[in-house]
Amino acid sequence: MTVYLVGAGPGDPELLTLKAARLLAAADVVVHDRLAANVLCLAPPTAERIDVGKTPGASVRQAEINQLLVELGASVPTVVRLKGGDPFVFGRGGEEALALQEAGIDWEVVPGVSAAVAAPALAGIPVTHRCVADSFTVVTGHRAEGQGTNWEALAQAGGTIVVLMGVSERGAIAARLIAGGLAPDTPVAVVERASMCVQRVVTTSLVALGDEPIEAPATIVIGNVAGLHLGKALVAK
Ligand SMILES: C[S@@+](CC[C@H](N)C(=O)[O-])C[C@H]1O[C@@H](n2cnc3c(N)ncnc32)[C@H](O)[C@@H]1O
Repeated sequence: MTVYLVGAGPGDPELLTLKAARLLAAADVVVHDRLAANVLCLAPPTAERIDVGKTPGASVRQAEINQLLVELGASVPTVVRLKGGDPFVFGRGGEEALALQEAGIDWEVVPGVSAAVAAPALAGIPVTHRCVADSFTVVTGHRAEGQGTNWEALAQAGGTIVVLMGVSERGAIAARLIAGGLAPDTPVAVVERASMCVQRVVTTSLVALGDEPIEAPATIVIGNVAGLHLGKALVAK
């Protein structure tokens, strides 16, 4: 009996790994998040599907999910815990792995394609690019999760800044990055629903980010690489 913490990628079933597809096809139970629902069709019709998606107002608490996984892991041969993107990138997969480990349940992680790199890529934006950006930082914009984020210091770090869960705080984030020294006209690209048929890319500047109408889920890319989406001449020398 094993609980597999499986990354489902950003949404397009073709961005699932072969291993994830194989485990889904063999699953007895699939415990899934809201953003991972697109690939549920790959599980057998007989597999039980348990939605633990954290929708506002109707969320299943993380402690309850951990407990559910421990109980299933003790009684069901193949449990797939399906999570959007990569399970260990802002996915709370680490907490679930720890709970399973402490309970003596076998578990394995299957990495997935994270929105942190997939969303920019699918908008034609390389997160690193010679002579433009030689590093990238992935950070949460969710106030509860990112209490300690030092945006002013991040502004000084150089490189590309990729913000997940940043839609509602985007204006405040932009203001703090500008206060930290980033130019107000720094290019920004926001990729909504990357890899899905309704993918939308909004290109803007840091100073205007707060005024753009954006819908979650979206990944915010801040830095000169975001200008590449516009076809600007950011050609390596
Ligand atoms: C709770 S985090 C989980 C991240 C996930 N574990 C990963 O590696 O992609 C959810 C955030 O990821 C980003 N995200 C997830 N799927 C996305 C998609 N298809 N398009 C754009 N952003 C996405 C959004 O910023 C969203 O608020």
